[in-house]
Formats: sequence, C-alpha cells, structure tokens
Amino acid sequence: MIAKGRFDVPDGLNEEYYQISSDIIQSFNKFRPPLDIFLFKEEVGRVSPFYKVGERLSKERIEMLAELVKEGLIFVSRKDHPVYVKHIAYQLDLVLIDRNLKESEIADIFLEALTMRIGEFFDQPVGVVMEKLWVDLMVLTEYLWNDPYRIKALSRRLHKEHSLARHSVNCGILGLTMFIHQKGAAFAKGEITRNHFNRLTAGMFLHDLGMTKIPIFIREKPKPLTTDERTKIDKHPMLGYEMLSKLDLKYKEIEACVLEHHERVTGKGYPQKKSGRDISSLGRLMAAVDSYCAMITARPYAEAIDPKQAATIIAQDKGYDPEVTRSIQAWAMTLK
Ligand SMILES: [Fe+2]
Ligand SMILES: [Fe+2]
Repeated sequence: MIAKGRFDVPDGLNEEYYQISSDIIQSFNKFRPPLDIFLFKEEVGRVSPFYKVGERLSKERIEMLAELVKEGLIFVSRKDHPVYVKHIAYQLDLVLIDRNLKESEIADIFLEALTMRIGEFFDQPVGVVMEKLWVDLMVLTEYLWNDPYRIKALSRRLHKEHSLARHSVNCGILGLTMFIHQKGAAFAKGEITRNHFNRLTAGMFLHDLGMTKIPIFIREKPKPLTTDERTKIDKHPMLGYEMLSKLDLKYKEIEACVLEHHERVTGKGYPQKKSGRDISSLGRLMAAVDSYCAMITARPYAEAIDPKQAATIIAQDKGYDPEVTRSIQAWAMTLK
C-alpha cells in the first residue's frame, strides 16, 4: 500500500517516482542530497525537477524542501533505486518507518545492508562492530515479527556470487525461510518467543563466524585442500563457538548454529560427530541450509549448481534431516 500525502498521488506516478518521506529526506546530506529530487506540480499534474545531483541547495531551498516533503509533493525517481538502497542500507531502521517503500525494495535494502554489515564484522570480528550488525539483524526480526511471510521476497534474492559475507546472508535468509515454513503454525499461535526468534536469526547469519580465523588463502583456495588445510578448516565450528563468549553471544540458539552446522544425522559430520536427534533441530536445519547455499553459488573451487538440482542432491543425501531437505525442495520448486 502506497501511503499518500495531502494530495492523491495520480495513478501511474508511483510506477516511475517514489514519494519521499521526511525521515528519508532528513537522513540525506542537507545541502547535497545523493539523488535527483522532483516536485509534483498539482496544477499540471506532473513532476518537474527540483534539484539535480551535483548542485548545492541553499538554506531557503532546504526549508522549502522540508515543507514540500510534509505536503507529500516531493518525489525521487525509481530509476535511482540503487542509490537510495545504498543510502538506506546505512540507516536500516528507516525501512520500518518509511511507508512508501515496496516490499521488493525493502528486500533489496535488507540484502544490501546485511551483506555490508556482516562483511564489516568478518573483517573485524570484535564487539563494537558486532553491535552494529546486531542492530540491523534486529531490524530484520522486527520486520519479520509483524509478518513472518515477508521473508519470501528476501528468499527470492539470494546472492549468486560467493563470498563469506554473501554466503552468510544467504544462509540467514534461507534458514529463516525454512524455519518460518516449518513453524508457521507455532508463529500464528504465539508459541515462538521474540528472544528465541532474535537469537536463532543471529545464529543463522553467524554460523560461519569461526571462518574469520581461517586464512583467506585456505578459505578461497581454487584447488583441492591438503590434509593440513582441511584440518584447519574443520576447526571453524569450534573456533566460532569459542568466539561467542568474547562477543557476549552465549545463547543456545547461536551456539547450535555455529557448532552443529557441519554435523550429519548419520554421525559422519564434525566436530563432535553427533548423530540423529542428538543434533539440535536448529543444527539439523542449518546443516542442510548451509550445504544447499554453498552449492547454489559459484565458489573458487566449484561451479554453481542450479537451485532445483541442488535441492534434489541434498534430499538424496542421507546425512541431512529429510524434513528439512523436503522443505528446501518444496521451496526450490516455487522458484522461476
Ligand atoms: Fe561452516
Ligand atoms: Fe556455511
């Protein structure tokens, strides 16, 4: 639903232009907004340029702009979508208050913001950087808490190229998609607590946290790993688990995602060689989601596999919980 200002936005205008709110305008650089701004002229029923990128707004024009925004007469072009996606990504909480954004635009913004924040955190995995990521993850949980099925638009936008940050975002989104798919009824009955949901969301996005301790030349090696390198990689669940106390993230949901995502129900996984139901349900969910997400992006050592085919491959693998792989298959079938 597109919110309207004091006047009725004519049909068709919202296709090309985006009515901008005071919150967004205030978040721009006052004198030099990052994108072209248009004014709707009621008498002619059309928009005309108000400001062009590269100009500098005078104090009077800034005040005038603030008034016009309040009246709902200020627009930006939807062609500038990439610019304001980037802009809002830095202040993600704006997506919760801006009523003019479409669901697809919000999904783009979440993807951009979370990939950026998680990348920053992986470059510098310390508490202060974690806090920024945490704030943005909580914007996501707030957004989904109001309607968990909003995850659908996000799950349509998984990254296709690999990086540790992109993989983590894909796993977070697909993990949540599967969780919501399986627990839809529990959500509706109010059986999922907000804290549980917050923590499992963080766990899914952070499952590979320990990888930040593995040298990048091993992580991204385009050739088969040596035994020594494999041993190092296999330590990442435990290394991640150990990092959680320093980061003050010792919650059972996060621990399960970090520690158990390489366990297999057959007992052939690592690091603890747990099997069957000894692996928590979150651990079993993340194991399948993690492998699936790894398969669907092109990695330095392997080509991307078609999403539907990847879903079939994990469904045939006895190492994964069939309930989870069935959910992934059902979801993959809905992809175009
Ligand atoms: Fe992993
Ligand atoms: Fe992973």
